[in-house]
Amino acid sequence: MKIGVLGTGMVGGTLASKLVSLGHEVRMGAREPDNPKAKAWAESAGHGASAGDFAAAAKFGEIVLSCTLGEKSVEALQAAGKENLRGKVVIDVSNPLDFSRGMPPRVSTGPAGESLGEQIQQAFPEARVVKALNTVNAAVMVDPRRAGGESDLFLCGNDAGAKKTVTDLLKQLGWTRIHDVGDIRAARGTEAYLLFWLALRSAFQTADFNVRIVLRES
Ligand SMILES: NC(=O)c1ccc[n+]([C@@H]2O[C@H](COP(=O)([O-])OP(=O)(O)OC[C@H]3O[C@@H](n4cnc5c(N)ncnc54)[C@H](OP(=O)(O)O)[C@@H]3O)[C@@H](O)[C@H]2O)c1
Repeated sequence: MKIGVLGTGMVGGTLASKLVSLGHEVRMGAREPDNPKAKAWAESAGHGASAGDFAAAAKFGEIVLSCTLGEKSVEALQAAGKENLRGKVVIDVSNPLDFSRGMPPRVSTGPAGESLGEQIQQAFPEARVVKALNTVNAAVMVDPRRAGGESDLFLCGNDAGAKKTVTDLLKQLGWTRIHDVGDIRAARGTEAYLLFWLALRSAFQTADFNVRIVLRES
């Protein structure tokens, strides 16, 4: 499958490399077409890897992963171009954390408390936005067992078909416990969870952890 990865950071690089290793064709996108990190990644990641600007990556992908600085993700997607996102599954991995007032950060929302996932869906109504993977560290995203055993991943979005496509991709990454927690408004919860995730990281002094839901059998 052709996948566009918007983002040259830890998340973009980790996901892009794993997807190439699984046999996908991946184009990494950055603000500038000759971004050195994206070029270096494309040269080292092997067959199926390429680089370009956000628009080139989005146009290339049948699926587009949004892995940019949360507070600038809508801007990055605007640069990617509405026409290049139309009808496509957009996996929003980003977290809109505001560190401007120090630690712990705040979670930025829209004027009515909207999550970033909702803001992206509103800005790109013809894209099929699914929020996923944002609740774990990049290394755990592509190696779920790194968290110490089977654990839970949550996704949400308005389009059932898009959620099925994302579930299939997550299974390829090794996830077995994937929970659909509703429409894109549920991203308010999965984004706010990051505040607790940061507290857990601090308490356990590692990012290699995740949560597991236990449910009473009915
Ligand atoms: N780190 C983790 O383990 C982790 C886990 C879960 C979720 N997340 C979330 O995943 C996202 C990516 O995290 P990251 O640590 O890999 O990278 P990051 O440093 O948060 O973001 C890097 C990307 O953001 C783009 N960017 C920065 N400023 C921009 C601007 N003004 N306009 C447009 N694009 C801009 C950069 O573009 P250029 O390439 O052009 O520089 C780069 O591609 C974040 O939202 C983060 O909260 C991270």
